[in-house]
Amino acid sequence: MLVSPRVAAKLESLGVELQRGVSLSTRTSLEIGGATDELILRRYDHVAEVMALLANERIPWRFLGGGTNVLIGDGELSWVALHLAGAKPGMRVEGNFACVDASADLGATVTFCARHDLGGMEGLIGVPGSVGGALRMNAGAYGTQIGPLVREVELYRAAAGKVEKLRGSDICFDYRHASFAPSDVMLGVKLELPSKPYKEIVAGIRMCNEKRRASQPLNQRSAGCIFKNPPGGSAGRMIDELGLKRFRVGDAMVSDRHANFFVNAGHATCADMLGLMDAVRERVRSAYGVELENEVIVWQN
Ligand code: EPU
Repeated sequence: MLVSPRVAAKLESLGVELQRGVSLSTRTSLEIGGATDELILRRYDHVAEVMALLANERIPWRFLGGGTNVLIGDGELSWVALHLAGAKPGMRVEGNFACVDASADLGATVTFCARHDLGGMEGLIGVPGSVGGALRMNAGAYGTQIGPLVREVELYRAAAGKVEKLRGSDICFDYRHASFAPSDVMLGVKLELPSKPYKEIVAGIRMCNEKRRASQPLNQRSAGCIFKNPPGGSAGRMIDELGLKRFRVGDAMVSDRHANFFVNAGHATCADMLGLMDAVRERVRSAYGVELENEVIVWQN
């Protein structure tokens, strides 16, 4: 048991809800993942105390956002999963700034801002996941990335042991990467967005949705693109050109719609998915001399 009854009682006094033996397959878009204790943080003002308690008790943790870009190991996990409570995340607009809790859904944030005539995020509409996850990965699609819109991030910094605010200009955002430490916990963000009439934003949103529906397997269980695009290239096109659509290892399968989406076509395990990733990576390496890098975050034991 990772969390003893003594620690569980302390966590409870800090407003944390503890759920024992949760299968993380119920928390991820791939529906893959082993079991562990889940800690749901209901009070943001206690985050520093909760994290200090876990550090003192030497309880390893992973912070799970929307679960849409992670591949989690099978079986009993050696770390607890932390979540920010998702119900009614804070979202408010002040002029051209939107302040949003990290637990908010990214798509809901795009439409909330649209209703306040704030645009610039249309491309992000179909990117699944939370705002916190989008910050960590510098989520992007259709020419838009979240990074350039960020003016401030509120986060818990394990290295400092406290909640801090970082200016957007102090964060380095690259393709599917941001300069946060692995142990940083995203709490909220302030975005600066251009004013745009609601109707125009909605038209942009519709266009992105259509493009996505036409090219991506939205009704299948996936973690979006599994590999990053290599500089100047397209992982999906290369995998497709090798005739690997529908190629499978166990129940993990290359989508027949978009070759950089690997789907859970039944009861896929993490081992199946890693096996498929290795096999495809190897085929691409020998055919193109290109080493594909994971886009999905892999958390094993
Ligand atoms: N293509 C194929 N076969 C396929 C898939 C794609 O030939 O099976 C070709 C397409 O025809 C196109 C090119 O490859 O000419 C690029 O494909 P697409 O436009 O679908 O974009 P992508 O580069 O594969 C990227 C992001 C997606 C994002 C889309 C739209 C990465 C790894 N992927 O995909 O992001 O939604 O652009 O902007 O950067 C994600 O991050 O998880 C993700 C899905």
